[in-house]
Amino acid sequence: MSSFVLKGDIAFNETREKIHTIEDGFLVCEDGICKGAFEVLPDEYQNLPVKDFTGKLIVPGMTDLHVHAPQYTFRGIGMDLELLDWLNQHTFPEEAHYKDLEYAKKAYSYFTYDLKRSFSTRAVIFATMHTDATVELMDQLEETGVISYVGRVNMDRNGGVDLQEASAEVSLQETREWLARVNGRYAKTFPILTPRFIPSCSDELMKGLGALSEEMDLRIQSHLSENPSEVAWVKELVPESTCYANAYEIFDTMGNEARPTIMAHCVYSDEKEMEILKKHGAYIAHCSDSNMNLTSGIAPIRKFMDAGIRIGIGTDVAAGSSMNMLKAILNAIQASKMYYRLVDQSVKPLTFEETFYLATEGGGSYFGKVGSFKEGYEFDALVLDDSKMYSMRNLSVRERLERTCYNDADVIISHKYVKGENTFQR
Ligand code: GUN
Ligand code: FE
Repeated sequence: MSSFVLKGDIAFNETREKIHTIEDGFLVCEDGICKGAFEVLPDEYQNLPVKDFTGKLIVPGMTDLHVHAPQYTFRGIGMDLELLDWLNQHTFPEEAHYKDLEYAKKAYSYFTYDLKRSFSTRAVIFATMHTDATVELMDQLEETGVISYVGRVNMDRNGGVDLQEASAEVSLQETREWLARVNGRYAKTFPILTPRFIPSCSDELMKGLGALSEEMDLRIQSHLSENPSEVAWVKELVPESTCYANAYEIFDTMGNEARPTIMAHCVYSDEKEMEILKKHGAYIAHCSDSNMNLTSGIAPIRKFMDAGIRIGIGTDVAAGSSMNMLKAILNAIQASKMYYRLVDQSVKPLTFEETFYLATEGGGSYFGKVGSFKEGYEFDALVLDDSKMYSMRNLSVRERLERTCYNDADVIISHKYVKGENTFQR
C-alpha cells in the first residue's frame, strides 16, 4: 500500500462540536492509515511523494449508513405516498424484477457507477431477497473501491406473491447459501443480515436471524419506527412487545456494542425505545430526506445525541431521492430546524459542525476508526474542487466547507481515497 502526502485546504471534526481547518496544510497517509494533518510537514515525512491539491478542499470520506441499491433507478417517483402505500405500489413491484439476473446486472450497474462517483467512501446497503442478484451487486460493489456491508433481504410475509419467500425456513436456508457463496470472496464487501422490517418477517424468521447473527457473528440492519401506521401495525403483529424496538429485542436482533445493529429512521422512538437502542449499542441511520418525502416525520436527532446513542446519516434511496451525502447533511440540518421551530423548542437545531460529524466520523465509526483525519484513522479522503462556486468574499476553509453542503451541485469531486487507495479521480 502506498504512502503519500496530500497538500490542500484540510477540514475535519476535531470534536462533534468543532471543525478543525488547516489552510494550505499537509495530510499524511502511511500504508492506508492517516498519520495526521499538519500546518508544516514533519521531517519524518519529507521523503513521501506530495500530491499538490493547493486551493482544493480535503475532507474525510462520508458513510452512507442506509441505502437501497435496487431502488436507485426509480428514485423520485411516487413521492406523494406514505411508507406502506409506497412500498406496495412502487418498491415491492420494482424489487420483484431482481429475480431476473440480467435486469439486476443492468440496474445495479447504474447504482454502482454513481456510488463510485459519490461522496460516499463507505456504505451499508440493502439488496433484495434474490441471492443471485445480491451476489451480482456485491461483485460490482467490490470494483467501486467503496467499502460496504450488503444485505440479502429477508421477507416471508406481506410482500405479495412476487416478493415474498416461501417460508421462514426457506428464507433462512437461502441466507445460509448466500453467506457460503460470498464467504472470503471480497476484500471490501461484507455481508450483513437484513430482516426488512417486522411486518415483512414472521416471528420464526426473526428468531432464526437472531440466532444466525449470534452463530456466525454477523451484524444486522433493519428499519425502526418510521411511520405511524407501521408502528401501529407492529404492535398488532407482536402484541407482547412493549414497543417496536422491544419487538426486535424479543427476537435477539438488536445486537450489542461489538456487533451493532443499524436501525434506519427512529422518527417515533420515545424514551423507552431510546433506552433499548442505547443499551444494545445500536446505530440510528438518520434519513431526513426520506422522512420528508414519505411524510414520515422528523427524527429528534439532538435528543438521541444527548442520550449518547450512536448515529450516522443514510440517504435511504429511493425513499430518499438522492445518494448525495452533502445533500443529506443539508436535509438533516433543515429538518432539525423545523423540529425546533414547530415541534419542540427545547430541542435545539443541529449545527453544521455536528451534522458534518454525523456524516463522517459518526457513521464512519460503524466501520472502525473511519471518518476523521486524526492519527490512526483509516485514510478515507475526498478532494473537492469548489473553485466554480464564485464568491466576492475571502472565505475561510470552514465557510467554504459549509457552502459546499448548501450548493452541492457546484462542487466537483477531484479525487477520492478509500483506505489510502485512490479509487476515483476526475
Ligand atoms: N421499511 C421497510 N422497507 C422499507 C424500504 O424499502 N424503505 C423505507 N424507507 N422503509 C422501509
Ligand atoms: Fe430504508
